[in-house]
Amino acid sequence: MLEAPAVSAGPLTLVHTADDAPGWWRSAVIYQVYPRSFRDLNGDGVGDLAGITAELPQLARLDVDAVWLSPFYRSPQKDAGYDVSDYCDVDPLFGTLADFDTMMAEAARLSLRVIVDLVPNHCSDQHAAFQQALAAPAGSREREMFIFREGRGAFGEEPPNNWQSHFGGSAWTRITEPDGAPGQWYLHLFDASQPDFNWDNQAVHDEFERVLRFWLDRGVAGFRVDVAHALVKAPGLPEWGGRADGGSSDGYPGHEAPMFGQPALHDIYRAWRRILAEYGPDRILCAEANVDPLPRLADWVRPDQMHQAFNFPYLHAGLDVRRLRGVITDSLVALDAVGAPSTWVLSNHDVVRHATRFGYDGPAPRDGDGIGIFDHQPDVVAGRTRAAAASMFMLGLPGGAYLYQGEELGLPDGIDIPDSQRQDPTFARTGGERLGRDGCRVPLPWRAAELHAGFGSGQAPWLPQPEGFRELARDAQTDQPSSHLNLYRRILAMRRELDLGRGSLAWLESWCTDRSLAYLNGTTLVVMNVGRDPLELPPGLVLLRSSPAAAETHDGGHQLGSGETVWLNLPLG
Ligand code: BGC
Repeated sequence: MLEAPAVSAGPLTLVHTADDAPGWWRSAVIYQVYPRSFRDLNGDGVGDLAGITAELPQLARLDVDAVWLSPFYRSPQKDAGYDVSDYCDVDPLFGTLADFDTMMAEAARLSLRVIVDLVPNHCSDQHAAFQQALAAPAGSREREMFIFREGRGAFGEEPPNNWQSHFGGSAWTRITEPDGAPGQWYLHLFDASQPDFNWDNQAVHDEFERVLRFWLDRGVAGFRVDVAHALVKAPGLPEWGGRADGGSSDGYPGHEAPMFGQPALHDIYRAWRRILAEYGPDRILCAEANVDPLPRLADWVRPDQMHQAFNFPYLHAGLDVRRLRGVITDSLVALDAVGAPSTWVLSNHDVVRHATRFGYDGPAPRDGDGIGIFDHQPDVVAGRTRAAAASMFMLGLPGGAYLYQGEELGLPDGIDIPDSQRQDPTFARTGGERLGRDGCRVPLPWRAAELHAGFGSGQAPWLPQPEGFRELARDAQTDQPSSHLNLYRRILAMRRELDLGRGSLAWLESWCTDRSLAYLNGTTLVVMNVGRDPLELPPGLVLLRSSPAAAETHDGGHQLGSGETVWLNLPLG
């Protein structure tokens, strides 16, 4: 039983003690760069590596520890780069390998580490290995790199099983054999242009170990592993009656789905961990693993496997304080049991941005559904206010945190995107029923007065920027002391100064109600008010508030407004 410190504010329940294990990532703030939408330096309307290099100083100024780059590899861009046709080259859309090296040098100069995305579940149908498989006969070594099967029905005209693509429709596509006859089917858990690799084949393991070394040799600090829970499929590919994404009622994949969470996955990551270890103790693996139930996440981050995993249950808990408390406690307890740090995240390139999600009083749209102009609209101001509170609550937690580009500006989703410009395959594969993820991928505003809000000075951005983006541009916010951006800077600077990422966590019971949540990390007390009315604050010195103006309106500053978070210094004893 952990023993909580005594505070005058009332009883505490301690769930996690301070962390002094070695490892930079254990408390790191990692900033996700989505290269297509970060900064376009060559004027073609799409972001590029040179644009990232140019703006890295801004990220250093934000005081993050590392950046994670979504895919920039050669790709036909059918799924925004998550359809890779060459894992060891840069797509000309983003630049060259030399541009990558230049970016790495600039990151090193700024003491920023760089993590890259690894997409091992599937490649592009334009990848040489898949093209060779199409040209080779059924049963060949080339076909064995992927998951080809005969169809069902008298003429093989039915897909081999009932699995559905994550993006809608069947997860199988039938090919035409080289002789022109209708042929085998191949599995793609995502778009038809993304054939799944066959991880029962050693040649696939060998190929990815080569890819790992290629990027490790170029100096990357590690990998975010895309759909890390899906590589291995259950023997015999049994039918699955659950949701296409394997989702359970809690919104993350059920543990019975035959395409997720198979035991053989762990040996793959053990082998990768050994490769990373050859490069020293500082290279990391982070699993994008939607694992259910949450304590099973600990299986992924045992000392011989991944270093970290994304905490999607945290993202999906929203502002439901009871659920948040449960997820935070479960995460810390489960991960402490294997000596791993937790991570926390609120936004990424696959979900509606949290400034928009929190603009709804009821449930926000499900991931991938997106929001259009005919849908129920969020309250933009409330959304941004609550997003600031939620971010400040998250960044006080012990462990690592992931930020998504633009959240430091309080950006909302792009909603007014014409159907003709929507690019997420989800939109086409569901006949427009699900709008997809384009809304959170709109290119960033950098300079309010410039063309395309400073994203690029040439062609129009690949997705239209909403009008309101201009006033949220980074330069405009830099000059406003109370801007969202300056709040993020203060939060991140103070998080580092107080070493909160390495800290402890104890719930302050009297402030854990159905409308507020409060925890103590060291001597810093974090309180979030999600209720409609102001709250009386516990005693303590106010360090930072998520709505700076609120202090003037609430009782000389010792109340916490609706949708507000505060950090206080709490005297112990
Ligand atoms: C990525 C998505 C991508 C999918 C298929 C996900 O986990 O984050 O953006 O569409 O994997 O690669």
